[in-house]
Amino acid sequence: MTSNIADLKSVLHKYPNFPVKGVLFEDFLPIFRDHRLFKKLINCFKNHSDEQFKDIKIDYIVGIEARGFLFGPSLALAMNSGFVPIRKQGKLPGECFAVEYEKEYGTDIFEIQKGSIPIGANVIILDDIIATGGTALAAFKLMEEMKVTVLEFDFVMELDFLKGRKQLDAPVFTLLKEQEQALATKN
Ligand code: PRP
Ligand code: MG
Repeated sequence: MTSNIADLKSVLHKYPNFPVKGVLFEDFLPIFRDHRLFKKLINCFKNHSDEQFKDIKIDYIVGIEARGFLFGPSLALAMNSGFVPIRKQGKLPGECFAVEYEKEYGTDIFEIQKGSIPIGANVIILDDIIATGGTALAAFKLMEEMKVTVLEFDFVMELDFLKGRKQLDAPVFTLLKEQEQALATKN
């Protein structure tokens, strides 16, 4: 683990039984309270992309509501890419593509504005965490509707034991991994 990542991990705060009993919630908001850590977070993703996609232009960062909005636009600026949001149903004006997806309890619907990304563009899908992978898979389906290329999924955290990445038909990059079931469930 690089010192950058150890710094980031050290400020994560765990809240037992939130938002429901039995869930150990790992809060990454403390990263944003310290501008040096916030910069490190952005630089970790940017440095990875610079290495991974040397000769490929990353046209857009696609951020997933809600926590993908906390750092998606900052990463997009750092990478000279645009930012496009995927939002929950009913929040975006104009014509949208929509996809229903499974959540821990019940289902939800994500939307993206038609025409917000040109056909054939290269995108990275960004969120705070991958647990079961249902959320990320829904985002991928929207990208298929948009006819764009998903270069990669980027997450701050991965709950390794839930094997969410197996659902995704694109490379997955995560900064931090939780390998023990006892440490967390969904969030
Ligand atoms: C959380 C988290 C991810 C998703 C991961 O979002 O921010 O988006 O769950 O879970 P999955 O891999 O099992 O789909 P949540 O739906 O709680 O909503 P929020 O980001 O709007 O708070
Ligand atoms: Mg979320």
